[in-house]
Amino acid sequence: MQTNMRGRDMITTQEWTKDEIDTIMDVAMDLKRKRAMGVPHAYLRDKVLSMLFFFTSTRTRNSFEAGMAQLGGHAQFIDHQTTQISHGDTGKEIGEILGRYNDGIAIRQCDWGVGNDYIRSVADASRVPVLNMQCDHFHPFQILADLMTIIEKKGDPRGKTINVSYAYAKSYQKPMSVPISLILLMSRYGMNVRLTRPPEFKLMPQYVEQAKENARKAGGSFEIFDDFDKGMEGADVIYPKAWGCTLTTPDLEESAKISQQYTNWIMDDERLAMAKRDAIYMHCLPADRNIEVTDSVIDGPNSVVYDEAENRLHVQKAVMALTMS
Ligand code: CP
Repeated sequence: MQTNMRGRDMITTQEWTKDEIDTIMDVAMDLKRKRAMGVPHAYLRDKVLSMLFFFTSTRTRNSFEAGMAQLGGHAQFIDHQTTQISHGDTGKEIGEILGRYNDGIAIRQCDWGVGNDYIRSVADASRVPVLNMQCDHFHPFQILADLMTIIEKKGDPRGKTINVSYAYAKSYQKPMSVPISLILLMSRYGMNVRLTRPPEFKLMPQYVEQAKENARKAGGSFEIFDDFDKGMEGADVIYPKAWGCTLTTPDLEESAKISQQYTNWIMDDERLAMAKRDAIYMHCLPADRNIEVTDSVIDGPNSVVYDEAENRLHVQKAVMALTMS
């Protein structure tokens, strides 16, 4: 167990050692048990987390806010539109000033080519930990919750096969932060990682290379498929979700048009039957029901999406307690 995490930023799991992530899992399991047993755990009494959102949220906002209250502190919700950011407050000023009022700063900024740079500019100026609630590259707390869920459902992840797959959605062109973060973290846990996507939906090449290197070091494997069905075959964990083809075109309308070639990339019972019988279906949510995934799969016995969403609370509390205490 690693014990020296006070003051650390969580921008991507790749910047944390595996030992440190193991500690996050251990603390998250402990906090989950404590909450189930009604055991108080006010490790952050009188501490305040500032949460700055440039994009909408259901789970992230609610779980951070609830988590801070359960830890004895307070979370303040800030919609960027109610701030002076559009009138000139820079990332440096946000980091300097919010860092003096609060004990942590959490940010969701998913704009392509902007989000990660913005969060890092705040972190550079901040005296308190900066937590990435999702940017254009990474969604670290989602992926920590995903890892916790895989460990709970499947035990040791080593040697298990996870299929991180594109699926069609029409609601909006979603960021690629979830599949990037999945391939980066699950490859470090010795999983056999499959990235399944149409040719236009490539992920950022530096992270794909990193995932290959992670897999090599951890004794797992990393493969890329462009056949939706092939990715499902024999998998232990299936994680099909939409993302925009931002590397092919930054134009969201054009991306939506390209994605229409792949409306048959829907997670349904036929595809589920190609995976192992006890495979788990995962999705970070929100999902486009009956477009990205059928009701029968997302509401079916293989689906773990609500346990996965719950684990957001526990991993976030673990990271906040470890970094902000
Ligand atoms: N999975 C996730 O981040 O959900 P929200 O967008 O609702 O926060």
